[in-house]
Amino acid sequence: MTNIFIGGAWPYANGSLHLGRLASLLPGDVLARYFRAKGDNVLFVSGSDCHGTPVAVQAAKEGVSPSDYAGRYHKEFLECFEKLGFSYDKYTRTDVDYHHNVVKELFLKLLDNKYLYRKTIQQNYCETDRQFLPDRYVEGTCPVCGHRARGDQCDFCSTLLDPLDLRDRSCKLCGSTPVERPTEHFYISLSHFQSQLEDYLYREKGWRENAKLLTSRYLMEGLKDRAVTRDLSWGVDVPVSGFEDKKIYVWIEAVCGYLSASKQWADEVGGNCESFWLEGKGDIVSYYVHGKDNVPFHTLIWPAILLGIGGFHLPDKIISCEYMTLEGQKFSTSRNWAVWVPDLLRRYDPDSIRYFLIANGPEKRDADFSWREFIHSHNGELLGAYGNFVNRTLAFIEKSFNGEIPKGEISETWRNNIEELYLKAGTLIESGQLKEALELIFSSIRKANKYFDEQKPWLQLKEQRDACEQTLYTCVQTIANLAQLLNPFIPFSCEKVRGFLNLKEPTWKPVFVSSQQRIVGLIILFERIDVKRIDEETTLLNNQLSE
Ligand code: MF3
Ligand code: ZN
Repeated sequence: MTNIFIGGAWPYANGSLHLGRLASLLPGDVLARYFRAKGDNVLFVSGSDCHGTPVAVQAAKEGVSPSDYAGRYHKEFLECFEKLGFSYDKYTRTDVDYHHNVVKELFLKLLDNKYLYRKTIQQNYCETDRQFLPDRYVEGTCPVCGHRARGDQCDFCSTLLDPLDLRDRSCKLCGSTPVERPTEHFYISLSHFQSQLEDYLYREKGWRENAKLLTSRYLMEGLKDRAVTRDLSWGVDVPVSGFEDKKIYVWIEAVCGYLSASKQWADEVGGNCESFWLEGKGDIVSYYVHGKDNVPFHTLIWPAILLGIGGFHLPDKIISCEYMTLEGQKFSTSRNWAVWVPDLLRRYDPDSIRYFLIANGPEKRDADFSWREFIHSHNGELLGAYGNFVNRTLAFIEKSFNGEIPKGEISETWRNNIEELYLKAGTLIESGQLKEALELIFSSIRKANKYFDEQKPWLQLKEQRDACEQTLYTCVQTIANLAQLLNPFIPFSCEKVRGFLNLKEPTWKPVFVSSQQRIVGLIILFERIDVKRIDEETTLLNNQLSE
């Protein structure tokens, strides 16, 4: 048995989740469900990233504590994840003692091992707001590509920036030009890890293309030591005297959440998480699932921290998504050009959302969400192919066989096809090619529908009852296996199907239901969505836009 660790990205608790974010998180749940069915030991963790200046600023504006403010979104995230069927073993938040303690512990270890050092630097200070400005609160022109960028990273050309590198700087809070002031900070010697991280990239097996490209670019440019503390009021304290006004920088801190959440999980279930983390404790494969903008934190910074502490297993698989656009345009939370997950869940089936986000997900290149595609994918694929195959088969059995699964035998070819499907789809899922895995399974659904059409059981029933039984028997076995194969992707409808057929927890190997058992509580899997909704939704979207 392999120990599979899955770390989902930590969404910032400063606003609702939108569909683009969700698209980059969902692969984590597909992987977790798949590996559990396969029988591996799975630990799937994540949490809300509650720190950071946006939370502190918003909380102050509303006169509530940062923790309460973040808690509001944390609660909302939990509800959304639950409705969407995310099967986290632990979903926590970064502003709990657990996390703070682990972060401080790791910080002190790095300090002990001499990978952190102090340095006094100039920082942007806003005289109007009377504070040092966090990176993301300094805006200016990217020195590399000339686009408008915020302090720590240029979204256009992905260069990691020092906020002082920006030209024509302004304070995001008040718009005035910041001045430079000296302040002392801790730095991590990333440069020390340069060649170890080059080896690490060279040896990788299973990073998405974008992760390889971005990482090799950073390595080619040469890693620079980076400040790991900031002048902030909200975050994890720096456990060193003289640094009382400072906090550990969110990037060093949030990634430590993978370990702190694991420890918290272990304590809560009375186990331990070492088998997911420590080298030499068994077979470990770790997956990290996030958006492209998070790549360097998972392929360079987190590995550097783990190397600096020693003995920990480095990330194996980097499942980093590209971006998702909305009706052809970039998502923009400030302009409200977004589909918000809580809102979407009020009107649509979680399986329809999950199906769309994997089948049309930004896996290898940017992908687009449009209401037209979404509704057509529900009606055409989920309902038209899958729902229809399940329903036509089982309803036929209800009507003509009194709900009793007819006798039959599965042919060699069908059995082989089913076995092959588990193997091939499994391999694709393990390598993070979820879209292809789902396509493969759906192509088998189309074949099964074709088989049903060609066999014409409604005619067979009258002319050759045996053949009719054989057809339905084959279709039922196919359905039973689909309810397992599709479970990582669309768990809600699969659970219903397993209910019809009296099947237990899904596994990742062929399953066969015995004949002469009755179908239980058959209902329609998916309702058709009126195509009028395409225009209605598009109009709503356009109306909500604020310029
Ligand atoms: N909250 C950050 C973001 O959404 C970090 C996410 S993942 C982390 O970009 F593990 F690296 F924290
Ligand atoms: Zn740039």
